[in-house]
Amino acid sequence: MSTPKIRVGIIGAGNVGSALVQLLIDESRSIALVDAAMAELEIVGVAVRDAEKSRPGIDESLLSGDAMALAHRDDLDVLVELAGGVDPARSYVEAALSRGVSVVTANKALMASCGTELAQLANKNGVDLFYEAAVGGGIPILRSLRTSLAGERIERVMGIVNGTTNYILSKMTTEGSDYDVALAEAQALGYAEADPTADVEAFDAAAKVQILSSLAFGTELHGEEIAREGITGIRAVDVDFARRNGYVIKLVGIAERVGDNGLSRRAHPALIPAEHPLASVHGAMNAVFIEGTMSGPLMWLGQGAGGAPTATAVLGDLLYVARNRVNGRHDVPFSVDDRLVSVPAGDIESVFYISLDVMDEPGVLASVAGVFGAHGVSIQSMEQSGVGDEARISFLTHTALTKNVEATIRELKSLGAVDSVGACLPVIEQGAS
Ligand SMILES: NC(=O)c1ccc[n+]([C@@H]2O[C@H](COP(=O)([O-])OP(=O)(O)OC[C@H]3O[C@@H](n4cnc5c(N)ncnc54)[C@H](OP(=O)(O)O)[C@@H]3O)[C@@H](O)[C@H]2O)c1
Repeated sequence: MSTPKIRVGIIGAGNVGSALVQLLIDESRSIALVDAAMAELEIVGVAVRDAEKSRPGIDESLLSGDAMALAHRDDLDVLVELAGGVDPARSYVEAALSRGVSVVTANKALMASCGTELAQLANKNGVDLFYEAAVGGGIPILRSLRTSLAGERIERVMGIVNGTTNYILSKMTTEGSDYDVALAEAQALGYAEADPTADVEAFDAAAKVQILSSLAFGTELHGEEIAREGITGIRAVDVDFARRNGYVIKLVGIAERVGDNGLSRRAHPALIPAEHPLASVHGAMNAVFIEGTMSGPLMWLGQGAGGAPTATAVLGDLLYVARNRVNGRHDVPFSVDDRLVSVPAGDIESVFYISLDVMDEPGVLASVAGVFGAHGVSIQSMEQSGVGDEARISFLTHTALTKNVEATIRELKSLGAVDSVGACLPVIEQGAS
């Protein structure tokens, strides 16, 4: 019997697209790929923005500047979208899915903004839509959620899912650098974009939380804003306070059950106990930590970015799609749990680390403490150090409602003796891991 052929169109030949092409044309892998795909994979076209640009390692005859034409090719089985961004990537993916062509993408922004609609379109047309590389680059977390953990009741998914911010915070931790210095170094080394907003303001991490949550809990993907806070306000003194008290500061993305049918999704910096498995995830590495009712804690660690690791995840999806097509089947992208209610960030309880710069004069501490008390936020410990005419006071609170802590901060800011409120960060307790 002759080996079936699966025809693949690729949009994008940048970091990930060019690495994928190299994996697909690597002679030393060809037998393994045919075995895994149950078919020969043939690249029928590679669409880019600038078709004139030299692309070493890519057959020139495959290149074109017309991605929509590629998505509409009659002989296409799978479209791999590696262009990025929501538009026009969405129109290419929709065109392919509507015509019965399966899609593999690494595009978290696209999936977070309209993943539900795309999944429904794929299902309606009897084709696959896979996006493993959209979260954690080379880490095979989404398929683990879809398959191995499909029957598990997951309580919490917590991840370090943005390499740029983890690199910056790691530098601040190991070298005592200020945020600006660590950011500049990340940019010089190519770990951060010239405009780092999507990473440092946690938009990227929030999109990944939404994708993880859709597979772990059955929430929808249609561009809903979730609670998000970036790392631009973190100072070297906060990192130092954390270290001296047995914590590290990490930007974490969290999706967790609250009560019987509540779900909280958020992405923000937090203090993590130094002995927590996520605390030892350094540099640009990513990790996802899951707590399942029966499985207990599980963790995946790996390279969350980079052309080759990410292309490996895309290739895994492509092989899976190929097998499905050869066998005349497709997977259901994800199911939705209508019973879940989104819990506002203000209703989440946590211990908090709060740091204030105050005038160094009598009575200040009493008035500050009074504000905490007025909002029902009790203080667990306090540390004071002098800075010229000012003093810095750092607190760890007892467990408090986020909205009460926010009200405390608002009132503290209006207090004459309080010069500025530095950090206000939740503390992830070890017992909750
Ligand atoms: N890089 C990573 O480490 C990583 C990790 C995880 C996920 N991802 C995701 O993977 C995707 C690709 O990322 P990347 O780093 O490879 O991006 P990239 O290096 O910027 O490459 C993007 C490629 O897409 C092409 N392109 C952009 N818009 C296009 C359009 N409208 N029509 C045709 N081609 C178009 C570009 O063409 P030109 O070359 O002509 O400009 C380029 O070849 C993104 O969704 C990203 O979020 C990346």
